[in-house]
Amino acid sequence: MNAAPCPEPSRDCPLCPRLHDFIAVWREREPSWFNAPVPTFLPPEGEASVKLLIVGLAPGLRGANRTGRPFTGDYAGDLLYGTMIAHGLARGEFKARPDDGLELVGAAITNAVRCVPPENKPVGAEIATCRTFLRPTIARFPNLRAILTLGSIAHQSTVRALGERVAAFPFRHGTRQIASGIALFSSYHCSRYNTNTGVLTEEMFVSVFSEIAAFLKN
Ligand code: URA
Repeated sequence: MNAAPCPEPSRDCPLCPRLHDFIAVWREREPSWFNAPVPTFLPPEGEASVKLLIVGLAPGLRGANRTGRPFTGDYAGDLLYGTMIAHGLARGEFKARPDDGLELVGAAITNAVRCVPPENKPVGAEIATCRTFLRPTIARFPNLRAILTLGSIAHQSTVRALGERVAAFPFRHGTRQIASGIALFSSYHCSRYNTNTGVLTEEMFVSVFSEIAAFLKN
């Protein structure tokens, strides 16, 4: 009998040599940092409570790669967690530290690529390889109803992980599409770059979450 595919890479995952080497450099430079594939952030109520999965791009060097929790330690997390708390999808206070006590409510957060990429840019082969973990991550939640993808790379990798064709489910901010029975919501990534350049405003981001919250209520 085959073992079920594992949703979490090992701490020393060797599958993407460039990312493995990049992390090795940062382990030398900053030994107190997390410096490893960042695991999915789960709610204390467990996998069965998860109705919404949020898929980001990849850990930021001084954010999730330093702290070990997705979107924790960089600007993107301020907007993401603040908005989640406001919509009842997280409780507590976000203080940008993994020990801040923040808890997810009915939601989980993962990344399309689990290791920090140089210059925040994973290459196609790394995105494809890391789907080895995205696929079983999606499958591990028996009551999953919705996925929110942040940015086009996360969107496309999620569509492929769901076994669908990217051409059939194009990325567009603010859309909801049904892919493999899951409601797939899409937003521009909540990065500082996108908010500074006006690509994504706080209102646009909040509006995506309002739609998700309304959808999950029904
Ligand atoms: N931090 C993450 O964990 N993922 C992102 O996509 C951005 C920042």
